[in-house]
Amino acid sequence: MSRLPQSIPFGWFFVHYSDELKAGDVVPLRYFGRDLVLFRTESGAAKVLDAFCPHLGAHLGHGGKVAGEGIACPFHGWQFNGAGQCTAVPYAKNMPPKVAGGRQVVHAYPTVERNQVIWVWYHPHNAEPTFEVAHNPEVGADDWAPLQKYQWRFASNPQEIAENGVDVAHFKFVHSMDEVPEGHTEYDGHVRRSSAEGQRTVTLPSGETRQIVSRVETVQNGAGQKWTRFFGTVETQLQVLVTPIDAQEVELRFAFTHLRFAEDSFEAKLASGQIASVTGQSGVAGDIPIWQHKIHRADPILCDGDGPIMRFRRYFSQFYAPVQPVSGIGSARAGNA
Ligand code: FES
Ligand SMILES: [Fe+2]
Repeated sequence: MSRLPQSIPFGWFFVHYSDELKAGDVVPLRYFGRDLVLFRTESGAAKVLDAFCPHLGAHLGHGGKVAGEGIACPFHGWQFNGAGQCTAVPYAKNMPPKVAGGRQVVHAYPTVERNQVIWVWYHPHNAEPTFEVAHNPEVGADDWAPLQKYQWRFASNPQEIAENGVDVAHFKFVHSMDEVPEGHTEYDGHVRRSSAEGQRTVTLPSGETRQIVSRVETVQNGAGQKWTRFFGTVETQLQVLVTPIDAQEVELRFAFTHLRFAEDSFEAKLASGQIASVTGQSGVAGDIPIWQHKIHRADPILCDGDGPIMRFRRYFSQFYAPVQPVSGIGSARAGNA
């Protein structure tokens, strides 16, 4: 039995940062228990397809080349556009009937660029998106700093990581916080919003400590998109980007931005201090060893001081599709989790 019984939830997930993919770039990806290829076309659109060529099975991400608005397979040069249609078979006198008429022959993933992130819609049955990627206006705005990026890989899943936010009792034991902030949470279909305000001790750049009133607002938009806004010192925004590699392992990325200040200014140091506390032991570095080794208790023994864990789980359960075989294109894909 695996430690984490959940399947991979559906939703919009990070697959790449926008600024790290130039026109003509081809990147092999392994996410959602699937082999994928990401590429940026000559006109600048990011596209994601299942990796294996429908001809003789080459991996398009290893040696494939962008050709116009599509990708050419490294093995025999067949070309596919971002919709997964075959657009050229360079050495055939007649196009094979199976690719004729614009039939889709490779699964194409809905792909959106927003908040300087390339998002892919994953659904275990390849169903169409049921909601959209939310827009974070501060990302890329003139008065906000460029993204500061952090990345980890460990054994966990999106639900376990998201549950951390409602698990108020762990803040003291994992993150050495004295007081668990009072919070307010709202569930609205696929969206969960929470806001918590509390006294917090911050260490100023001078080394002096001060009590401040801090407010943290979090929004979860499906299983793969979540962001947090911190108020109280320097306004900071954090995108929490969890992408399942398969049902047992994730990549977790944090992308921060904060109001722009002169380098070495007092505010810039406060912002770095804030980021260090969210990425350090008082933040995610404290959680990772727990996530890495824990099991999922479907029926935990809880006490009155615990947070609303079961309410959160009811919310998250909407992102699991009923088990059924993947139908249609690419159903013969290897290693589908
Ligand atoms: S395997 Fe891709 S063109 Fe032959
Ligand atoms: Fe935590």
